[in-house]
Amino acid sequence: MNSPTPASPQSPSRTTGATGATEPTEPTEPTEPTEPIEPIEPTGPLEIDDIQGGALYERPSPYVGTYLLLQIHEPADGRELIRRLLPLLEPGPASTEPRSGAWLTVAFTYEGLTVLGVPQESLDSFAPEFRQGMAARAAELGDVGASSPEHWEKPLGTRDVHIALAALAPDAADLESVVARARRAQEEIPGVEVIWRQDCYQLPTGRTSFGFKDGIGQPAVEGVGTPTTRRGEPPIKAGEFILGYPDETGGLAPMPTPEVLGRNGTYIVFRKLHTRVAAYRQYLRDKARTREEEALLGAKMVGRWQSGAPLVLSPDEDDPELGSDPGRNNDFGYTSDLRGFKCPAGAHARRANPRDSLDHEMSVDVRLHRMIRRGTSYGPMLPEGVLEDDGEDRGIIFVFAGAHLKRQFEFVKTQWLNDGIFIGAPAEKDPLVGATDGSGAFTIPQHPIRRRLPDVPPFVVTRGGEYCFAPGLRALRWLAELT
Ligand code: HEM
Repeated sequence: MNSPTPASPQSPSRTTGATGATEPTEPTEPTEPTEPIEPIEPTGPLEIDDIQGGALYERPSPYVGTYLLLQIHEPADGRELIRRLLPLLEPGPASTEPRSGAWLTVAFTYEGLTVLGVPQESLDSFAPEFRQGMAARAAELGDVGASSPEHWEKPLGTRDVHIALAALAPDAADLESVVARARRAQEEIPGVEVIWRQDCYQLPTGRTSFGFKDGIGQPAVEGVGTPTTRRGEPPIKAGEFILGYPDETGGLAPMPTPEVLGRNGTYIVFRKLHTRVAAYRQYLRDKARTREEEALLGAKMVGRWQSGAPLVLSPDEDDPELGSDPGRNNDFGYTSDLRGFKCPAGAHARRANPRDSLDHEMSVDVRLHRMIRRGTSYGPMLPEGVLEDDGEDRGIIFVFAGAHLKRQFEFVKTQWLNDGIFIGAPAEKDPLVGATDGSGAFTIPQHPIRRRLPDVPPFVVTRGGEYCFAPGLRALRWLAELT
């Protein structure tokens, strides 16, 4: 593989601290597939051992990580890379000492599958949105103006992106050693080139650049063993996230063919989202009379306080103990607050997952629009209290995994975040991440009269992204054997 020098200023530095990780297998020799491809039953218990772990399971915290995008110049080398990656991929829950030193996830764009030699009939069986690619979906997704593909960081959104590789490691030393081994392998696979690299890491605060704890509201998935965090909410059917199993409709999600390729795979949405933290802080400062009010307005926009404490459970002030308690911080619904006096209907988290607040709407089944998010932060923190932009690129690498690109990611983005019809405020968009042009408002219900924050500027700019497909391990072996 050829690799550019990592350009990111956030490259993890090599530290000397020993990690105790077991010596990973050196991926120097081409690995022959060890197991024959066996016939597969169409449905049955979840084949955890065949599903890439990154989709179903949180990685331990803290972590550092790297996203790599690769271009395949020589199909045989692309298949060789898959063969070498296979022994390094771990299905199931994240082990504390990842096999290769890092938890790896590998996914392919439509172009990537094409270059690898996947037959046309099979390519045609993938979801239409995946085949089109994210850049072609820009108008629908609200990636316009500064967020439009013409301004995206190259090569994001181009036909050059074939493989996406995510490597998350417990610490910088582990990650660097994995990256170093990948570099050594470069000479041996010249037909695959690393064309983009983005490092990411958990901020020292453990929160996102806007200052909020993230990654709390995640669905429990049936048969996976992840704990339910909201009492009374049954786990979501595995087929909502992994192809080949019944989903919430009782049917199977349309699955790419042949079955060996589709089954146990999942679609991945990958987006680099730049956060305009100074503009966000300045806006709140302008609209609030006190620091307390500033924190409250920020919380109203998100639906949670910075600590993660939900407004519904703690409407008047932050409750850090509640925010950090996984047994309580997601255990709520909105039926006690249908008018939004505690948490506005337009708040980001309430829009993105309205929970039980739409139960009266016969046409909307919230369970069909749940999302597994695996986001990570990139870029340096804007120091506390700074209101001036320092020109640094910071934000979130937003990662979604699911079986339905259109009715999960695209639905939530277009109908719930970029539109307000469903909450009776058609002109309003998500105040934190909505595709706004700066003329929109955000309404906060309160007594005696509601408060309306005008002219909410865009706080998030899309720097680029890709729709990918993360196959199961058996499917990866199938891809490696294509001729
Ligand atoms: C820079 C962009 C974004 C930031 C800073 C951000 C931040 C947050 C925060 C702070 C929360 C509350 C904590 C939690 O429940 O995990 C949250 C929840 C959530 N966000 Fe985002 N978000 C961003 C983009 C998006 C996008 C683009 C989507 C979907 C298309 C999305 C979907 C969700 C969902 C589904 C939840 C969980 C809601 C729940 O279950 O209560 N977010 N986000």
